[in-house]
Amino acid sequence: MASPRHFLTLLDFSPAELQALIFRATEMKRAHHAGADQRQFPGTVLAMIFAKSSTRTRVSFEAGMAQLGGHAMFLSPQDTQLGRGEPVEDSARVISSMVDIVMIRTFGHDIVERFAAYSSVPVINALTDDFHPCQLLADMQTWHEHRGPMAGKTAAWVGDGNNMCQSYINAARQFDFQLRIACPPGFEPRADLLAANRDRVELSHDPESAVRGADLVVTDVWASMGQEKEQQTRARQFAPYQVNEALMAHAASDALYLHCLPAHRGEEISAGLMDAPDTVIWDEAENRLHAQKALMEFLLNAR
Ligand code: CP
Ligand code: NVA
Repeated sequence: MASPRHFLTLLDFSPAELQALIFRATEMKRAHHAGADQRQFPGTVLAMIFAKSSTRTRVSFEAGMAQLGGHAMFLSPQDTQLGRGEPVEDSARVISSMVDIVMIRTFGHDIVERFAAYSSVPVINALTDDFHPCQLLADMQTWHEHRGPMAGKTAAWVGDGNNMCQSYINAARQFDFQLRIACPPGFEPRADLLAANRDRVELSHDPESAVRGADLVVTDVWASMGQEKEQQTRARQFAPYQVNEALMAHAASDALYLHCLPAHRGEEISAGLMDAPDTVIWDEAENRLHAQKALMEFLLNAR
């Protein structure tokens, strides 16, 4: 049997496949809103392995699989042998022999890679310390729905050089836009990613110049899951990097801003932007559902 397709980073799909996925997500969203029956995968089982907390990812995958006619199974390390030291490789062989598709949220990116290497079914990265590609599908869908094609546009990332920032670097390459990153010194994204994408990614420590004329401004929490102890010191170092009305005034006049959520009002983003009547942040969150239904459809049909 041919090895299955996986979605561990945006680089696992071609630019054309990613574009098609975004269009399909919008199409499935319209159909869902119109009340269409989308149960194309009856009896299909999604295993959802969560080693970190989640609201959006869990609800969107579980609801999405139910809407596709299948079943989603929540597995946490606390309740499975994964938490008692059963090797990832053994778990992958066993779990994938019983389900049709697997989604994993965990710490080290190597964990999803090792799982995928031993899985007989498609594996989806639902966030690691390094990447959050599912969020980028929703972000790109949202950007496209509100402003049309991303190619040739400019996005600014303001804040931590974290898993979301690194996913934006991959997105800049795959969706063909320029990315300007402004992060505090010492919080840069991985050097190898920057080096590999020098043609479309610029790094600075100046939010204002990064945002100047940008079509999209994106931020995320200052301390990610697993960094809770650093919250206070980070809050001091990141204070000049808040995305707020004053910063947005430097962006293009029709610029959008995105945040993957959960957000901390008054830290990385102002309360005013979060609660603005015309914010698209809630569309972005909802699009997780539609983008991942399109993703699961793609991976299940590719088997
Ligand atoms: N944006 C996102 O992945 O949210 P959750 O942590 O709630 O899943
Ligand atoms: N960077 C954040 C994203 C949460 C969806 C984290 O990893 O906690």
